[in-house]
Amino acid sequence: MLDAVERKIEQFIAELEDKDTLNLYKKLPAGKRLRARLILAIAGDSLSVIKTAAIVEMIHGASLLHDDVIDDANTRRGVASINAIYGNKTAIMLGDILYSKAFYELSNIDPKLSRIISRAVTLLSIGERQDVVLSESFNSNEELYKQMIYNKTAVLIEASAEAAAYLAGKELKPYRVYGKNLGIAFQMVDDILDITQDSTTLGKPALADYKEGKTTLPYIYLYHSLPKDEQKVLRGMHKKELKEKESRWIAQKMQEYKVIQKAQLEAKELVKEAIEIMQNLGEVELESIATKMIERSF
Ligand code: IPE
Ligand code: IPE
Ligand code: MG
Ligand code: MG
Repeated sequence: MLDAVERKIEQFIAELEDKDTLNLYKKLPAGKRLRARLILAIAGDSLSVIKTAAIVEMIHGASLLHDDVIDDANTRRGVASINAIYGNKTAIMLGDILYSKAFYELSNIDPKLSRIISRAVTLLSIGERQDVVLSESFNSNEELYKQMIYNKTAVLIEASAEAAAYLAGKELKPYRVYGKNLGIAFQMVDDILDITQDSTTLGKPALADYKEGKTTLPYIYLYHSLPKDEQKVLRGMHKKELKEKESRWIAQKMQEYKVIQKAQLEAKELVKEAIEIMQNLGEVELESIATKMIERSF
């Protein structure tokens, strides 16, 4: 069924009748397709479901094209990013093309569906902005971090689940809550993997967040665990290219205060709640998507 989604995306791109766009799009590997999988698992494989899954993945792809410009990232999905190969202008414009074609197709399906998805994309963009603003100085506020990741990542996953439930004629609320929890946990895991994995495994830069000014959950936990003098040391390394010795210090302190485990536990709690909701509905595949998401290594 995922194959049908790939073909639908290719068809949407081909309809633009622009060779240059088609060639650029071919440089973008598919990724995990989590959002499409979620939509198919909830709503089956009717044409409007396949279209919605394709649209959401195009939107997600566009957000990544822009995100790599914002984050100055040179790799994505295991290959050189579009901004690294062709520059920021091309990455931004390809993102715009994907966004606008996706919205055009969305408007042909159903007005309520359009509202669910487009509202999410506005919040995603606000979330990306919040991420940039927060990274300008050292953020130690857990609530602000959680609000920001809800917007930049969870909202689109929440909307995918809600949109799929709507298409399937299922009750919206449980799917919305499932998507929200899964989405917040998904970004928490992404932020943990930035610290624990290497860039080859991730297919994108590792240990990039703190250097970019991003105090993700493990850094926030670490900050609040450290004594005052060491808090100052940690702050001093914020938003800088770190020396080997400095990275080792952070890794040691993270181990000492078990902040990775603490962040993992927080993500697990959210997923547990999501799984319980799906158990009650007998949605076995959605349980398994959530379990695999939390156990992933990239
Ligand atoms: C990456 O999303 C951006 C985040 C929201 C963390 P994914 O991890 O779903 O990216 P792909 O689509 O698999 O590359
Ligand atoms: C991804 O944010 C969120 C969106 C693209 C909207 P990140 O910057 O945290 O994701 P990665 O780690 O680059 O995939
Ligand atoms: Mg980013
Ligand atoms: Mg990024």
